[in-house]
Amino acid sequence: MLEEIKKLIKEAEQFSAKNIEEIEKFRINFLGKKGEITKLFSEFKNVPVEQKKDFGQTINKLKNTVIEKITSLKNSLEDTQQQQNSLDLSMSGDTTELGTRHPISIVRNEIVDIFSRIGFVVSEGPEIEDDWHVFSGLNFPEEHPARDMQDTFFIEKDPDILLRTHTSSVQVHVMETQKPPIRSLFPGRVFRNEAISARAHCIFHQVEGLYIDENVSFTDLKQTLLYFAREMFGKETKIRLRPSYFPFTEPSAEMDVTCKICGGKGCNVCKHTGWLEVLGCGMVDPNVLESNNIDSKKYTGFAFGMGVERLAMLKYQVNDLRLYFENDVRFLRQFKAAY
Ligand code: DAH
Repeated sequence: MLEEIKKLIKEAEQFSAKNIEEIEKFRINFLGKKGEITKLFSEFKNVPVEQKKDFGQTINKLKNTVIEKITSLKNSLEDTQQQQNSLDLSMSGDTTELGTRHPISIVRNEIVDIFSRIGFVVSEGPEIEDDWHVFSGLNFPEEHPARDMQDTFFIEKDPDILLRTHTSSVQVHVMETQKPPIRSLFPGRVFRNEAISARAHCIFHQVEGLYIDENVSFTDLKQTLLYFAREMFGKETKIRLRPSYFPFTEPSAEMDVTCKICGGKGCNVCKHTGWLEVLGCGMVDPNVLESNNIDSKKYTGFAFGMGVERLAMLKYQVNDLRLYFENDVRFLRQFKAAY
């Protein structure tokens, strides 16, 4: 008899239910008027005296197990119901905030887009370079003071390994691997050992252009740059070329555009000159062509290089360069990309 009750205890302990009806059935089965426990109590009078205590205790244990089981099953059923009620499946999902393109990327992409419309293709070169690609291959003689125009971060000395100071280095890579006609654009990061201020940074971005073919003239350079200036700064923009010096171009020039802010009348942005300097350019020096195995009797070319931050400053009227590098989202969110 005792064994049978213990079996019932086990059965009650292991019982599980999916809904309230099953729990109710379980309750009636054990605790109902005709249930197991009532039946057992009615047996009680037939149990020998010395077993009565044990018998009674075991039935009570069964009764408690059943009651506890019912309470716990009811509780967990209520919990899942509550969870289901609080889960509103018709609610719209969380929105993920979209990032914005960095202003430097926007301007870089705009420059690339303008030149790609007239057939320039993008190439990239390494940021860690040797002396040849950054200086010697671009006609910088050893010990020439022009090397000091660009304060260099050296990684190793003899042979020199350094961080490129300008993207003109990619010209050399392209001339090594391609034959004219070459019509290429090289956007990239450059590094100079300069103190960081509102107007200078030790890391910035440039876009370099190189065009080599037969009969390329200074007129082609001028017209290409006029096209660029008008696409970038507006149809009314005028350009002027001032003579300058770069070892890799001869003749060399710096290009100014009419100030977009005052239309050339003079303002704070253009320091009352009406002009803004935007890039360096020139005809590729025959020495550069020759040292890169391009016949300078047959081919001529032009090159130009511009600072992306400088153009971004002119475009957005943001006059502290450091803002472009701090990645403060309150600043970055203000720029909308068309590119
Ligand atoms: N590499 C020059 C600099 O970083 C810019 C430059 C000037 C590039 C004249 C050119 C060029 O291609 O022809 O200051």
